[in-house]
Amino acid sequence: MAMCPFRDVLDRALAINVGATIETGARTSFPLMPVGLAADMGRTADGTPLFDPRIFDSAEFARNPYPYYRILRDHYPVYFDKLHNCYYVTRYDDITACYLDDEGFNTIPKGSSSGVLGNTQLELSGIEHRRRRNLYGRHLVGQALDKRVPAIRRLATEMIAGWKTDAPSEVVQYDAGMGRARIELGGAFANEFPIRVVCQVLGIPDDARQSFVYWYHSMMTGLGGSETAQQGLEARQHLEDYVEGLVEQRRSQPSFLTDDSGKVLGRDIISELCATKVDGDWLSTEEITSNIALIVGGGGETTRGAILNMWYLLLQHPDQFAAVRATPSLWDAAFHETLRHSTSIGGQPRHNTFDLQLHGVHIPAGSLMHMVDVSANHDDRVFADPGRFDIHRSDLYVGKLLRSGYRADGRASHMAFGVGPHLCPGAWISHQESVTGSRLLAERLGDVQIAADRMPTDVTGSGLAPIGLGAIRALWLDVELI
Ligand code: HEM
Repeated sequence: MAMCPFRDVLDRALAINVGATIETGARTSFPLMPVGLAADMGRTADGTPLFDPRIFDSAEFARNPYPYYRILRDHYPVYFDKLHNCYYVTRYDDITACYLDDEGFNTIPKGSSSGVLGNTQLELSGIEHRRRRNLYGRHLVGQALDKRVPAIRRLATEMIAGWKTDAPSEVVQYDAGMGRARIELGGAFANEFPIRVVCQVLGIPDDARQSFVYWYHSMMTGLGGSETAQQGLEARQHLEDYVEGLVEQRRSQPSFLTDDSGKVLGRDIISELCATKVDGDWLSTEEITSNIALIVGGGGETTRGAILNMWYLLLQHPDQFAAVRATPSLWDAAFHETLRHSTSIGGQPRHNTFDLQLHGVHIPAGSLMHMVDVSANHDDRVFADPGRFDIHRSDLYVGKLLRSGYRADGRASHMAFGVGPHLCPGAWISHQESVTGSRLLAERLGDVQIAADRMPTDVTGSGLAPIGLGAIRALWLDVELI
């Protein structure tokens, strides 16, 4: 193992000495700990745990982040990370206060994502943000969403009915002798379902959906960093070119969503936008296309992760899975508890508009501040025993999500969709997708278990790998198809 030539300098700069082995560059190799326990990063004379920011870049942190966030919440609720030159805010109450303060905190371009997804409302603040948000967000909520539910149900039914027991595929392998199948739930359902739903509500014609799925996956790959950014940019260009043509067409020929009986429910989103006027002017084609990429980009990977994580967690808690099957209305609680316990978006960056003093830390105006949503979701000031997955927990609010957040009756909303002006406008539709899709899946699957032999085990060698940060990539199931 090579010694890092800068180790002394780094340790001095960080004012810590972790006593750990250096692997390469400035990375420290932290020991892999039992999930829920933090590696020892040293202590001050009074016993306060020290924190080494190199942990953020470690394999240990990716699989076992929560005990480290606990150290931050308990001892450094505002933590200045000298290595990455940013501040971390980790307590639930502080994060909600910052998100709700639209004047004090600005959203900022999100690095490579802003290149790939384009200039979207995610990066806007104040009046400009409200204007865009009102135009697009309202098509994903309330009565507009109710109109889309039949289409969501139809798409899920079609996908599940498409599993062939007589023609094995890579992701559905049926053993007639055993009467059981091996199914990879991502490939067979969750990877494509959310993106098909987005195409449907936008009004993308059937023959272009495969291209959309391809562009979407390339855009997501493009968010991975500079090496793949080019691929993402090209995909977005193709997507925009296509949507531009479609918008021009829909201006004269709107298309419509229908219910199961074929009754027209309303226009699809693109047709709605084509018929929208602002201050007496029609929305421009550029204005419409620019935010379609965000809806496509924002709505796929996140919901895929929610569905897979939910099944992974439920199946590891068979009593809770049995409860959900017996009482399907519990899928709502399962969805929200999954997003509280393990969501795929770690948090959001903000810039503080003014100089700030928080928990004794001075934060100069314009600093990069990370609001760590996943840490808020595990804040035991709000959620008891936060590492426990429990769909029956009495401290989680599982009702209709509110922009103001919910904090009453001893319950609090989770932070997976953010809160405040940027609260995810896709929250309700992804909820519908995950719950409706899962109910239909559960009806098709008889006895179902995780096919543990096809799943990664934890690096410690025992048990299934923890979800850690993000979402699991694949979920192999051993099922009885009915
Ligand atoms: C489980 C699924 C999802 C999760 C966890 C999620 C998470 C989030 C979060 C945390 C934000 C807030 C960003 C911020 O505060 O800066 C956000 C914003 C956004 N999401 Fe989602 N999202 C999900 C599904 C969706 C879906 C299905 C769509 C579209 C159909 C969508 C579209 C958007 C858009 C357009 C924004 C920008 C809102 C704004 O800046 O005003 N999301 N999402």
